Amino acid sequence: MKNTLYQQSLISIQDLSLEQLQLLFTLAEYYRSHKDSRPNSTLLEEKIIGSTFFEASTRTRLSFESAAYQLGAKVIGFSDANNTSFATKGESLKDSLRIIGSYCDLLVMRHPAAGSARLAAETANVPVINAGDGANQHPTQTLLDLFTMQTAFPHLEGLNLVLVGDLKHGRTIHSLVQVAHLFKMRLYFVAINELSLPETLLFQLKCQGVEFSFHQHLEDVIKKADVIYMTRIQKERMRPDDNLQPLVLNQNLLAKAKAKMKILHPLPRREELPTELDTTPHAYYFEQAQNGLYVRKALLSLILTKEVPL
Ligand code: CP
Repeated sequence: MKNTLYQQSLISIQDLSLEQLQLLFTLAEYYRSHKDSRPNSTLLEEKIIGSTFFEASTRTRLSFESAAYQLGAKVIGFSDANNTSFATKGESLKDSLRIIGSYCDLLVMRHPAAGSARLAAETANVPVINAGDGANQHPTQTLLDLFTMQTAFPHLEGLNLVLVGDLKHGRTIHSLVQVAHLFKMRLYFVAINELSLPETLLFQLKCQGVEFSFHQHLEDVIKKADVIYMTRIQKERMRPDDNLQPLVLNQNLLAKAKAKMKILHPLPRREELPTELDTTPHAYYFEQAQNGLYVRKALLSLILTKEVPL
């Protein structure tokens, strides 16, 4: 198998072709099915990963760091940018990234500003992985979302995805909808008017020929769903006085769902996904979060080694 991801940055999910996605999922499945023996434990032993989180994270940062350690790499960086010269001495983001890039072989970055990951890729002399840039994109979340769907269904083609919650600010939604055309997925958007998907993305979906529709209530579409993708309201991207109420998934609604329907959520969750649903056969979000480790192992492996390490 040819590795066309070598030394490539991942800034937008659209940076990846269908063939590259399939290659990634093949390697991620290898890591998932060999999770106890942890193969390739010295694959990246000469490599240093820069883990730069200018915005809070639990899953993305720790799964990337765990992935790096499991492959033998070393990790430098920070999870609290307040203790950097960028935050305390007025250093520009560009200078910071240029310097950090010179200390490592690959940069993983999360930052609150949309477009910051693109700036990083243009500035640092190493591949950059976008771990979330503001409300713009979260491409590695989409990789693990697709991989998780692939573990639950015979194939991704033609799945009915019901996307619920904060479609305006949710970068996991923004990245996910941009690959729907590759798999001919049908999208159902369920959101209050204030939190609907940005027009630019709707225009893009139309150009790509993706079928989609808008709904105010989950009960209008729950019967059709193969996957319900819940998201929380992103209060950190709103004014403090915005007080929008979430659309909540509950047992009564689930009673109308297909038996094989799976609930995904990028997490963290709030009221929109009550813990009482965790024990239903539909709950699949903890597996989803765990899959982040295997997908990120696959991504680091492919970007940092010339051959496919299978
Ligand atoms: N899903 C996700 O990005 O989680 P974190 O914010 O905890 O990294």
